[in-house]
Amino acid sequence: MKFFVDTAEIADIKELADTGLLDGVTTNPSLIAKSGRDFMEVTKEICEIVDGPVSAEVVALDHAGMMREAEILRKIADNVCIKVPLTVDGLKTCKALTSDGTMVNVTLCFSANQALLAAKAGASFISPFIGRHDDNGFDGIQLIEDIRVIYDNYAFETEILAASIRHPIHLLQCAKIGADVATMPPKVILSLFKHVLTDKGIEGFLADWAKTGQSI
Ligand code: G3P
Repeated sequence: MKFFVDTAEIADIKELADTGLLDGVTTNPSLIAKSGRDFMEVTKEICEIVDGPVSAEVVALDHAGMMREAEILRKIADNVCIKVPLTVDGLKTCKALTSDGTMVNVTLCFSANQALLAAKAGASFISPFIGRHDDNGFDGIQLIEDIRVIYDNYAFETEILAASIRHPIHLLQCAKIGADVATMPPKVILSLFKHVLTDKGIEGFLADWAKTGQSI
């Protein structure tokens, strides 16, 4: 399972990249706004830190506008993955870009049928939003399960990029289903390392080690 971090904060991306466990980055217009940084500049910086796909989202709503923006964004670096919304124009853009060898992440997916359309449009990644699905009274994890079944039925190569992951249990459930990628905020990735018994165990071992009077 690949781990992407869902942020445009350079310090957080560097910290996670240093662990060697980071496979990519996803951003969106809200995360860019939160960073307070220039979109082009911060995306370039992220692409230099991480070798894997870095999603940069278009904001045009029409196909021609999306193509024009994608043209600008894909020049930033080879690992830029163009993010388009799951609309008719978004999928037209997806088809055109992937036919040309550009990575595309289709975002704002809230149904398995939408995911089927994205796969047919040749998407590199489909981003179902689990947390936002749950927030609205739907079952975000069921959505991931349904997409897994459909993609496996037809051997689609589109990778399921579970997004809007809010806590470690979401991640655990996605991993059990076989989502290809999980994109998570930095705090969720860091929380995966933690267990109270690990901390307690270290404390106990160190206390006993001190009693031996030895050093390594
Ligand atoms: O990048 C899209 C997605 O991960 C957003 O998550 O928590 O704002 O629903 P959230």
